[in-house]
Amino acid sequence: MIVYFTGTGNSRRAAQLLGSRLNRPLTDATPYIREGKRLELQSDTPWIFVAPTYGWQLPHVFRDLILNADLQGSKEAYFVMTCGSGVGNAEQHLRQLCAKKGLTFKGLQPLVMPENYIAMFPVPDERAATVIIKKADKRLERTVPLMAQGLSLPTVKAGLGGKAMSGIVNTVFTRGVVTAKPFRTTAACMGCGKCARICPRSNISLASGRPVWTDECIHCMACISHCPTKAIEYGRKSVGKPRYLCPEWKETETND
Ligand SMILES: Cc1cc2nc3c(=O)[nH]c(=O)nc-3n(C[C@H](O)[C@H](O)[C@H](O)COP(=O)(O)O)c2cc1C
Repeated sequence: MIVYFTGTGNSRRAAQLLGSRLNRPLTDATPYIREGKRLELQSDTPWIFVAPTYGWQLPHVFRDLILNADLQGSKEAYFVMTCGSGVGNAEQHLRQLCAKKGLTFKGLQPLVMPENYIAMFPVPDERAATVIIKKADKRLERTVPLMAQGLSLPTVKAGLGGKAMSGIVNTVFTRGVVTAKPFRTTAACMGCGKCARICPRSNISLASGRPVWTDECIHCMACISHCPTKAIEYGRKSVGKPRYLCPEWKETETND
C-alpha cells in the first residue's frame, strides 16, 4: 500500500509511478487530513509513505496521521520525500517515527522535484520543471527494484547542517514562519472557491465570495498554486512569480 500526501502534485506523481511499477494500491491521505479522520488500512506488502519535505522533515500533519493510523498487516515501511533540494536529517526522525509505531524502517528515498514553495522561493517555469521531473522519474525507477525485493535503501547521510535544519530550524520554521496571514486575493478573484475545496486543512472559507484563511495553514501552497486566475498572492513575495503545479495535475485541473 502506498499512502501519499501532496500540495502541488509532485508527491502524487511519485506515488503513482511507484504504484504502477510495483503494482500496489494507492491511498490519498489528503481527505483524511482534511476531515480529521483516522487512517485504517491493511497492507501485505511494506508500507510506502510518499510526501513533500516541509522544513527538512515530513509534513507534521502527515507524520501525525501515520502515528495515529491503524495499520494492519506489514510491519515494514519505506518513505519517499519529494523536495526542492534536500531532506536534511529527516531519516533520523523517520526512524523515530517507525520505532514509536512499531514499524521497521526500510529506508528513505529523497527525490528532488520542482520547488513549489512560492511564498519563499522562486519556482521553476514549465520547461525547467520538465527537466527536473524527468531526472526524478529516473531516480525513482532505480529505487523500484529495491522496494520490489523488500531490500533496505541506502542510508541518507546528514551532516551537522542537516541535523540543525531538521531539528531547531524546523521548529523555528513551523512555529514562526508558517502562517496564513500574508495570503490575500487580488481583483482577479472570481470567488470560485477552488482554494477552499483544495485546502488539505479546511483552512479556507468563503466570505462574501472571497476566501478567508484561518490559522490551520501548513503552507502547502495548494491554494495559491491551484487558483485558476492566479488571484492569490502571499504578501509581495509571490508577485510576478510563475505558479507551479505538477504537469499531470495541471492537465486534469479543468475537470475540477
Ligand atoms: C512549506 C514548505 C516547506 C518546504 N521545505 C523544503 C525543504 O525543507 N527542503 C526542500 O528541499 N524542499 C522544501 N520544500 C519544497 C517541496 O518539498 C517540494 O517542492 C515538493 O516536491 C512539493 O511536493 P508536492 O507537489 O507533492 O506538494 C518545501 C515546500 C513547502 C511548501
